[in-house]
Amino acid sequence: MEQVLKAGEAAQKKSPPPRVPVEFNSLVRECIELARVRHHLQAANLEYRESLSSSSLQNGDGACVLGDAEELRTAVSNLLDNAVKYSPDGVHISVELDAQDGKRLVLRVRDQGVGIPEHELKRIFRRFYRVTQRSLSQAKGTGLGLFIVRSIARKHGGRVFAQSEGAGKGTTVTLELPRKVRVA
Ligand SMILES: Nc1ncnc2c1ncn2[C@@H]1O[C@H](COP(=O)(O)OP(=O)(O)O)[C@@H](O)[C@H]1O
Ligand SMILES: [Mg+2]
Repeated sequence: MEQVLKAGEAAQKKSPPPRVPVEFNSLVRECIELARVRHHLQAANLEYRESLSSSSLQNGDGACVLGDAEELRTAVSNLLDNAVKYSPDGVHISVELDAQDGKRLVLRVRDQGVGIPEHELKRIFRRFYRVTQRSLSQAKGTGLGLFIVRSIARKHGGRVFAQSEGAGKGTTVTLELPRKVRVA
């Protein structure tokens, strides 16, 4: 129910995008910790790697996004929850935050779960859309998660897309966000 409300909000709010600097790498780490606790995972079930450019390391600035921390947390947590939920035979998730590029931050959430057939890769971002006919009757959901993630990504000037080699071959979902330009 809460998700339904959130979806409505994220999709319908026509207000200008929030403009608060959010340290995205810290935010992702929080979401990873939360997912580990919530799903009772060992560190090895959910690996996290950060590649920051050497210049941002030297300057001591993190990987910042201008936006709404709460919404960004919702987006990242949704991707992590899906990666766990659609890995019924064991969780092997690797998350990578690539901040090499000065202009954008790229978060990749890769799992080794059930995968997604090619013709469904775009549809899964539609409102209420769920892939049917998978031996996953236990995986409950509303089909709203990725719709919300996409709304949030767009609102922040970014995008999200899914890749998979097909059924049984795992899935990678990539969230790209514009990086906050450093002011001198
Ligand atoms: N990591 C994933 N691996 C395989 N299928 C996925 C993954 N993430 C999402 N999907 C598919 O996309 C559909 C839509 O996802 P989502 O919007 O989060 O809804 P929900 O998880 O509530 O079903 C899911 O029902 C599932 O079929
Ligand atoms: Mg979901």
